[in-house]
Amino acid sequence: MRKYNMAIVGATGMVGRKFLQVLEERQLPVENYYLFASARSAGKKVSFMGKDHVIEELTETCFDGKDIDIALFSAGGSVSKKYAPIAASKGIVVIDNSSAWRMDPQVPLVVPEVNPQDILKHKGIISNPNCSTIQAVVVLKPLHDRYGIKRIVYSTYQAVSGAGMSGYSDLERGIKGYPPEKFPYPIFGNCLPHIDVFLDNGYTKEEMKMIEETKKILGDNSLRITATTVRVPVFNGHSESINVEFKKDFDLPELKQVLENAPGVVVVDDPGSNKYPMPVDANEKDEVFVGRIRRDESVDSGVNLWVVADNIRKGAATNTVQIAERLISYWENE
Ligand code: A2P
Repeated sequence: MRKYNMAIVGATGMVGRKFLQVLEERQLPVENYYLFASARSAGKKVSFMGKDHVIEELTETCFDGKDIDIALFSAGGSVSKKYAPIAASKGIVVIDNSSAWRMDPQVPLVVPEVNPQDILKHKGIISNPNCSTIQAVVVLKPLHDRYGIKRIVYSTYQAVSGAGMSGYSDLERGIKGYPPEKFPYPIFGNCLPHIDVFLDNGYTKEEMKMIEETKKILGDNSLRITATTVRVPVFNGHSESINVEFKKDFDLPELKQVLENAPGVVVVDDPGSNKYPMPVDANEKDEVFVGRIRRDESVDSGVNLWVVADNIRKGAATNTVQIAERLISYWENE
């Protein structure tokens, strides 16, 4: 097998650090790693893969002369908007964790358990979906294939780690009695129905991301979807209540079986012994956990689900690394 060269852009951030951890665990066929961040971090050393790596400043020429094949980006939307096309123009395939390119029709939006085939359509940039969308579609895809989804109602309970290092430290600060720096209000002892900016239609951008990205990944624009996204005082692990209405009727034990057999899904659903998914159990796991599976008795054919995942792993770093693994395996089989 050929050995590849990989860049990590935003290597010092919440997701960037997790990239390094997941890459150490999964051991991709990579010969050289190059770590990039802002000028603030340039020159700092990071221990990774058993040796010290020096963080380099991200610049327009920083990729030159390194023969980089793949770049994992997680340094925010504006950095991706500017630097992903620069990297792509140098023959590097960018796998981008920001929202900058997700809805671009030229850019595949990929969850490997759901639409791996879309990776092959890339033109230099592949997008990693929003964390809340990823864990939802891993569970919804097998149900859509089997019963045909008509409508989805998302209500999320999202951890502070999803807002990066500064979101995480706002909860730590709040516990110590200090005022918030990242969020507009204290997050400790509170819930904020406000993730990303508000749009003209009254939804937040996070809510519209979930709605639009779900349609794109499942390849079905006819889906009717609404969402309310909420930041809660949990350090890590997003939870979602997902109400789904189907076109066809379903048998509940069979639906549970469909989920048991779905790739990347773990069913935790035993109310008799208080077993249901929780962020503390999903922490540091790569699977998506689903429980509280019950018929929605207010409609003809609907189900309620409670879906939990580690938003920094499956919702970001792991999904991105899994895309890189698939891309390499496609290259190897060309
Ligand atoms: P740095 O640590 O040097 O600021 P998070 O959202 O968890 O805070 O992470 C953001 C990541 O994006 C960090 O690695 C951060 O680097 C990086 N980053 C932010 N702005 C830039 C920029 N202008 N150029 C390169 N990297 C950036």
